[in-house]
Amino acid sequence: MKKISLLLDMDPGHDDAVALLAALAHPGCRILAVTTVAGNTAVENTCANARRIMTLAGRTGVPVAAGASRPLSGRPVTAENVHGRTGLEGANLPEPAFAAVPDFAPELIVRRLRGSSQPVTLVATAPLTNIALALLRDREAFHRVERLVIMGGAAGEGNVTPAAEFNVYADPEAAGIVLGAGLPLFMVGLDVTHQAIMTGKDIETMRGLGGDVGAAVAGLLDFYRGHYDRVYAWGGVPLHDACAVAEALCPGIVTFSPMAVEVETRGEFTRGRTVCDRWGVTGKPANAAVATGIRIGALKKFIFEALGRFPLPSPPR
Ligand code: BDR
Ligand code: CA
Repeated sequence: MKKISLLLDMDPGHDDAVALLAALAHPGCRILAVTTVAGNTAVENTCANARRIMTLAGRTGVPVAAGASRPLSGRPVTAENVHGRTGLEGANLPEPAFAAVPDFAPELIVRRLRGSSQPVTLVATAPLTNIALALLRDREAFHRVERLVIMGGAAGEGNVTPAAEFNVYADPEAAGIVLGAGLPLFMVGLDVTHQAIMTGKDIETMRGLGGDVGAAVAGLLDFYRGHYDRVYAWGGVPLHDACAVAEALCPGIVTFSPMAVEVETRGEFTRGRTVCDRWGVTGKPANAAVATGIRIGALKKFIFEALGRFPLPSPPR
């Protein structure tokens, strides 16, 4: 089976952490690099958190780079109210057993794209600052991108404001650049991630998988769930970013409709809104496939199977 070449851009973050573990455990992909950006917390934390998770997973050989520490415009927006002070509260994670590479993340993204002999699936589960900066540096390199799957935006709802989803709200100008770049973009937004609720029973299933990874993930989700219990009372927690990675590695878990999508950057109440032309009223050509449905059973199977693969066998030398 041909492996998917994967680039991950993230801001771990609880749901990023589960997404990263799932990708690290998946036998059908080769991770070219993990890049991090300011988002849920400062970039120093997201970079350390990615390496903590990879240390926990026993996968310390994949390069990790830190990128943008602030959005292209405006002040940084973080989500410590959701993810805690470090961005990954709730579990005793190991300290990173390896250093980040010295490259600036957008440069590493470009280099990995240029260096890949295979088409690349790029998954971004964070504000799109690194991706926009990489595009501004070298649009040509993105010809290598077979699919760009982002967790971000929504056709119909918001979570930071009534109008806007966090990853787009945190850097609307970057999201506008990425959506305007003519890429094969798959937008996995709140419309579907808010359907993909991991219940208390699901969290117990993860704990029951045993081992350090099962215990850590259950601890992380117990913490993460606190926010959703306080604000939404859904009886569980959505794993936004894991939906994007699941779709990247098992295409078809999410269903999409092509739409013209624009990002509102100025609105008094709507900055960061992804304005999705569901019914084609503008007559503009579609620039994204927008998620409209998700197979929740398949998503949960993907996550449980991935976490059940730990501890991973040693990678071939
Ligand atoms: C997104 O915002 C972040 O807090 C999560 O990690 C996810 O990427 C959901 O709106
Ligand atoms: Ca994220």
